[in-house]
Formats: sequence, structure tokens, C-alpha cells
Amino acid sequence: MKRIGMLTSGGDCQALNAAMRGVVKTLGNSGEKTEIYGFLDGYRGLIYGNYRMLGTKDFSGILTVGGTILGTSRTPFKQIREPDENGLDKVEAMKKNYKKLKLDCLVILGGNGTHKTANLLRSEGLNIITLPKTIDNDLWGTDMTFGFQSAVDIATNAIDCIHTTAASHGRVFIVEVMGHKVGWLTLNAGMAGGADIILLPEIPYDIDKVVDAVEARDRNGSRFTIIAVAEGAISKEDAKLSKKEYKEKLRTRPYPSVSYEVAAQIQEKSGREVRVTVPGHVQRGGSPCPYDRVFASRLGSEAGRLILEDDYGFMVGYKNREIVKVPLEEVAGKLKMLSPDAAIVKEAKMLGICFGD
Ligand code: F6P
Repeated sequence: MKRIGMLTSGGDCQALNAAMRGVVKTLGNSGEKTEIYGFLDGYRGLIYGNYRMLGTKDFSGILTVGGTILGTSRTPFKQIREPDENGLDKVEAMKKNYKKLKLDCLVILGGNGTHKTANLLRSEGLNIITLPKTIDNDLWGTDMTFGFQSAVDIATNAIDCIHTTAASHGRVFIVEVMGHKVGWLTLNAGMAGGADIILLPEIPYDIDKVVDAVEARDRNGSRFTIIAVAEGAISKEDAKLSKKEYKEKLRTRPYPSVSYEVAAQIQEKSGREVRVTVPGHVQRGGSPCPYDRVFASRLGSEAGRLILEDDYGFMVGYKNREIVKVPLEEVAGKLKMLSPDAAIVKEAKMLGICFGD
């Protein structure tokens, strides 16, 4: 008999349900009797003891469904050690609820912040298995996270749609892509959508180089230019600022995001008409793509196997085309950035894509 707690934490993404289904199906098919306690709205459910007992039926029909049947919330790691407004010690409360329900382990699905708390709970003696979710693909210890490929599809589709209208009107178009502080999503969607210029957080841009690239396309007779800008893209000048100075700049800049600033600068320097499109949270929504359905199911299945073997303290990840288990202490607190020297960046440059560097 296994008693499993399960929760999804942080921003949602596609294939969370597929991953949980993978865990539950694997346990069910093993013949081991299993009780599943689904904590609602992320760590909040574990802290306050809000859970639902789930049966195998709850996990059927959800392979293709986006979002998470458990709900999610952001519980910043910075605040996890701080008592809540009623003086409750959150870490002690999570441990207490785990013990009260006599759980054998907790399956936690999440990204960077989630993994810091998961590792803390592991170090406090709880049995933890995690699964790597995020459209940003920025989790250390895995080459791929689920949600990423689905978001690439959506962002690519946005760029494809912009392409046709940009071509008709002969305009410069910016598509702002999510990804938080990393550029994986923008680079992949930008390349897939045939963007001419791609601006990423890991490669600070010089706005004059961006304008040069737009004008060079004009001279070559191209009527339009597509620019994929990561929401975390940063100029060379801003990259020199201290963290505090940059935060202040963001607080006071007269633009809602970096794309609008880039657009205004191109417009001013080149006289070209520039439009901005921000697909935003659409990138995290809807049904997972086939790749993510398979990938998340595989990760979930492996998590189920580890639980059956009582092998805890790992994130189930993907390295060199294989599903692997990665110790949680290696994952927590690290960001997987894109290297400016990565082969894919070099290849993109050989294809003529400008990074503004
Ligand atoms: O981490 C996923 C992500 O979608 C990032 O790409 C983005 O920066 C962030 O979450 C948005 O967060 P929220 O949903 O809290 O607005």
C-alpha cells in the first residue's frame, strides 16, 4: 500500500495533467494498492491541509487537457521560512500534514522556485520525487521540461500569423515571447517562425545593430522584418547596470515591456513603422502538443517506478535523450541559461539571423 501526496506549483503549463496521469497509471498497473492525496493550489494546499482524495478515474481523460486538475499558485521560496499572517510556520505545517496523512512520498510538479522548496522538504526528511515543468525550459539538470515544446508551437504560430500581415503591409513587427530570464523559447520559436532578428537575455543587444539589420533588409528589397524579442531581453547598456539600478530602470521606464522600448527606438532611428504583438499567457495555455504528451507521460511513468522502489530525493529529468534521475540538491537554486556560444546560436547566425550583438 502506497500513500502518495501530489501537488503542482508555480505558473502552469501544458502536460501537467499528462505527467500526473503517467504517475498514477504506472502505480495502478503495478498492482500496488495506492491512495492519492491531491493538494490544491500548490504548496498552499500542503501548508493548510487542503486536499482531495483522488482515484484512478480522476486521471482518466486528462492526457490532452491543459492546466492542472489540482490548481496551482506561486509560493515564493523567499517567503517559505517566514510565518504567515497568523504566525504559522509554513515548513512545519507542511511536515505536519505529510505526517498526519502518513504519506510515503510527495510528487511535486514545478519549475525553479518549486524545486527550491522541494529540496528544502527533502532536507527536512520528507520523501520527494519531482517532475520538471515550465514553458521556459530553464530548469537545471534536464535538457528539456514539459510545456516547453507546446509553448514553442504556440509562439511559432503567433510569428507565422504576424509574418503574413507584416509582408502585406511592409512593416517591422516585434513578437514578444515569454521565457522569464532565459531565451530558449524565443530562440526556438524565432528560428521556427523565420524571424530575421532575435533578441535574448543571454545575448545583450546593441540597438544600432538591430536598426542596421532592419535597414539592410530594406536595401535588399525585403518589405518587412520580423523580430522575436524575449520578455527578458536586455540591451548592452542595461546589462552594465547593477541589479538595483536595472530594477529602478524597469520601474520607471515609460514602456510596458522591453519590446515597446525596442520598437520606439527603431521607429525613432529608422523612421520605419513598428508594431508589437505580445501573445503572453496564451503560450502557456491549451492542449499539450503530442511531443509533450509523450514526454510528460514518460517522466510520470519513471516517477511511478521510483516510488514503487522507494527511491526518493530525485527530479526525473531528461539528459542526452534518456530519462534520468537527478538528485534534488543538484537541481535546486540553479538556472539553465542558454550559452551565447551554443551550437544552435552559431547555426542561427550562419543562417543570417541577427542577435543584435
Ligand atoms: O515561468 C513561466 C512563465 O510563464 C514565464 O515565462 C513568465 O515570465 C512568467 O511565468 C509569468 O508569470 P505569471 O503567470 O505569474 O504572470
